[in-house]
Formats: sequence, C-alpha cells, structure tokens
Amino acid sequence: MKTFFILSCLVVLINNSLSKDAAQETVSKHGKLSVQGTQLVNQNGEAVQLKGMSMFWSVWMPKYWNEATVQSIHNACHSNIVRAAMAVEYGGYLTDPTTEMQRVETVIEAAIKNDIYVIADWHDWHAEEHLEQAKGFFEQISKKYGGYPNLIYETYNEPLDIAWSSVVKPYHEEIIKVIRANDPDNVILLGSPHYDQELDQVLADPITGQTNIMYTLHFYSVDTKQWLRDRVQNVMNNGIPIFVSEYGTCAGTGNGTVLADETQLWWDWLDQNQMSYVNWALSDKDEAASVLIADTTPENACQDAYLTESGKLVIPQNKK
Ligand SMILES: *[C@@H]1O[C@H](CO)[C@@H](O)[C@H](O)[C@H]1NC(C)=O
Repeated sequence: MKTFFILSCLVVLINNSLSKDAAQETVSKHGKLSVQGTQLVNQNGEAVQLKGMSMFWSVWMPKYWNEATVQSIHNACHSNIVRAAMAVEYGGYLTDPTTEMQRVETVIEAAIKNDIYVIADWHDWHAEEHLEQAKGFFEQISKKYGGYPNLIYETYNEPLDIAWSSVVKPYHEEIIKVIRANDPDNVILLGSPHYDQELDQVLADPITGQTNIMYTLHFYSVDTKQWLRDRVQNVMNNGIPIFVSEYGTCAGTGNGTVLADETQLWWDWLDQNQMSYVNWALSDKDEAASVLIADTTPENACQDAYLTESGKLVIPQNKK
C-alpha cells in the first residue's frame, strides 16, 4: 500500500513537472483544432493549450509583420501561436485595405510555414460600425486560408461599453455566417463588452447553433485580478468556452508597473484550466507591455539579451 502510494505521488509529480514548451506543440503535432465543451482540443480530441505572442498594431509596428519575426516567435519566444492584430482605424484597414491585407497574409503564410497557429484579428474597438468592411476582410481570409488548420479568426478585438445582446452578438453572427460559408470548422473567437470582460452578458445570452466558437477574455494584471478570474470561472463552469487572445503583465494602458506575482496567479489559473493565452505584445515600444527592448531586430526577437522586464517573465512561461 505504502509503496503504491509513494509511486502514485511520484507519477503525479512527474506529470505536473512535465515541461510543455509551447514551441514543440505545433500544428503538425496537434492538427485541426475544435472545441469540446469548454475545452480547446486537438485532432485526436485531446486538450491542447496555445501560448504565444500578439503582434502590436499593424500600423504602428509593421517592422515585425514578417517571416523572420514569426520564426523568432516560434523558436525564441517559445510560442505555438501568433496573433495578427490588424489595425482597422488609425490609418488601418478602413484607409488602406491593400497594405493591411498584405501584412496579415504575410503573417498567416509565415505561421503556416513555421508550423504554428495564427489568429486573424480584426483589431477594432468599434467593429459594429465597420460591419461591411469586416465582412469583406473575413470573406477574403476564410476563402484563401480556411483550409489550413493553422487559422483562427478573431472577429472583434475589444467591444467597449456597448450592449451584448442587441449590438455585439448580432455583429458576431453576421461575421460567423461569412466565415462559415468558406470554412466550416476552424475556431472563431468572439469578443464581449468592456474589453472582453463582460462575460456574464454572454452567459445570459450565448450564441447558439454554432460549433467551434470561443469567447475571448482579455486581462491586464494591474487592473484585473481575482474578481475577474472568479467571474470567468463561473462562466466556464456554466459551459462557456474561453480563450485569452490578449493579456498584459501591466495595466491596460500598456505602461507602468509590471506585476509578476499577480501575473503568475493568472498563469497558474489558466494552466489549471488548460486555457490558451496570448501576450500583448511583440513590440519594442518604450512601455511596460513590450517584451522587446528598443531596436530589437526580427532575428533577435526574444533572445535573452533583448527581453524587457515583461519579456523575462513571459517567455519562460511559454516554455512551462
Ligand atoms: C512608459 O513609462 C516610462 C517610465 O515612466 C517612460 O519612460 C516611457 O516614456 C513611457 N512610455 C510611453 C509610450 O509613454
């Protein structure tokens, strides 16, 4: 009995300490993703966790929207996912769709080549005002890349303080229809009001009749703590699948203090629940959220000598 007990403890210990370097959890290993209950699963129906980096707004950091950076994101940032945060306003897609589309396609094609997942993100705070343009974007992306298991769609970065049921939900339903016409099954991520935190509103009135959809949670360790984990835990316990398509180790403003302890509480909770998380941001802007120091080249991205305070926390976490 005693021996058996000790052996069992050992097995549990070994299991828990098994390193899960996200860089090795690639598309060729996990294949097509889907959602079972609240869990993201791989082609064999086994739970899978994606960990990676979000690009910074395409209009402000195009120097990283290239293949060399995506290769670094996989190998040096130890990520199995990259998020293409394509600007819509501020001179983005609404102004110059050709340039923005090229940036997104470059990142998608680099992700396919580098065997990692990629999120095509309509990075907008007012997407319901740009429904026709968003439809055009997702039509094109789903037609061209919908057959690749790498692709994940994010229809609306962060709705502000607007109504879920009468505004945000109908927007998502329109976009889902466009995507599903070309791509029957890749995962679609959906935002909720107040920067993807009002998930109670989703729980009260979820989108029905769809498969492989998840709702996004965004958190920033200085602003959002245990109360938000409690809210989301309850929402998940009631069957709502959650994906963290953006989080920061600092405040939502992107600057100020980096909170290592609070961020670790978040990571531990996410790992316990086998949830996926994508850090904001692969950026060398002089602010706390950036993982790279100023003037880091794509080739040097996430090499130890080029990591900021936040990067020194985020990159090792991706290897755990
Ligand atoms: C972020 O905060 C630091 C330290 O206070 C400051 O030097 C830097 O200019 C800030 N960055 C931005 C983009 O405002």
